[in-house]
Amino acid sequence: MVQLSKGANGIYGEAAFEVLAKAQELERQGKNILHFEIGEPDMETPENIAKAGIQAIQDKKTHYVPSIGLLELRKAVQDEVEKTRGYRPDLEQIIITPGLKPGIFFSMLATVNPGDEVIYQDPGYPTYGSVSSFLGAKGVLVPLLEENEFRMNPDDIKERITKKTKLIIVNSPQNPTGSMMTKSEMDGIAELAEDHDIFVVSDEIYSKMTYDTDHYTPTSRDEAKERTILLDGFSKYYAMTGWRLGYMVAPKNMAERLQDFLVSAVSCTAAFTQWAGVEALTGDQSFIPKMMARFKEKRDRIIEGLNTIPGFSCQAPKGAFYAFPNIKETGMTSQECADHLLYNAGVAVLPGTAFGPYGEGYLRFSYATTLENIAEAIVRIKDSFE
Ligand SMILES: Cc1ncc(COP(=O)(O)O)c(C=O)c1O
Repeated sequence: MVQLSKGANGIYGEAAFEVLAKAQELERQGKNILHFEIGEPDMETPENIAKAGIQAIQDKKTHYVPSIGLLELRKAVQDEVEKTRGYRPDLEQIIITPGLKPGIFFSMLATVNPGDEVIYQDPGYPTYGSVSSFLGAKGVLVPLLEENEFRMNPDDIKERITKKTKLIIVNSPQNPTGSMMTKSEMDGIAELAEDHDIFVVSDEIYSKMTYDTDHYTPTSRDEAKERTILLDGFSKYYAMTGWRLGYMVAPKNMAERLQDFLVSAVSCTAAFTQWAGVEALTGDQSFIPKMMARFKEKRDRIIEGLNTIPGFSCQAPKGAFYAFPNIKETGMTSQECADHLLYNAGVAVLPGTAFGPYGEGYLRFSYATTLENIAEAIVRIKDSFE
């Protein structure tokens, strides 16, 4: 039989979508399932943003636009990066993408060769490992330890750097642990990258989803001009997951190549989505603090609840909307515990191992749901262990 490419056999999917499919099958059988598996806000896109998108469609902004993105949106991103990261990138460095995820794919395609090594957090977002494997690169895992509040330490990276290291990927606030790295840790990583001539991709999709802790980017050191690439997007903090809108800030020579990736892969990001993005960045920003106040209440409620379940213990995340309890004392593996909760408690969660081997002994709860569902889930989980 004719064989698929090595890349096609290397790439892999995401457990969240598999668990969702299992949960939906149970729902079809009439079971009531509480959903804690999918990582998206439970709020709707703010009305001013949705209206801007609708208006753009009515104004016939439904054609091809430049691959690199609309000038109006790129200018808004330029102001945004200056405001939030403290440096003003050149317009030539800014590229609009359909969601942040293509930014991961394209920046890895642009930097990594087969046989290179890519360093990333474990447990971590599965796309980094999947794309490394697709490219025939070696994923080098940095374990995130509970005793270090799941933060990646520059010393742990240093030990893993070899002549083949081409890229370090950082994600803070982090999925799935909700950890956030400190300024000195970020600076330490950027410094290591300089010393060893390595690229750094910084996935900052949760940059505005923090609880009383400041967000830092490793890209401020070289202003994304030489070796760092900033990735951010509208999916999470503007509740726009389905609109597919993100951006990259990259060194100019790379940005030129990235444009051609976009031409070849998608032509451009949808025009009306980009106009909605202009409104998101330049319009009323009160949605984000309101959403985060609600998430804080949910966080406090779920952490308190999880810590009352025998065999569970959970630190409070500093950002994003995920709780990552340690379940080692239940005597189950992550997968066994996730299956137990789905089939015996009707609570859909992800096993920590969906984010890499160092996720063993943990579960991920996305608490983008109602306070009532959180309270109900805690009761059901306790009952399921009795
Ligand atoms: C760390 C991280 N990066 C990227 C993404 C994907 O973002 P987008 O939906 O904008 O492609 C997610 C979504 O869950 C994420 O958790």
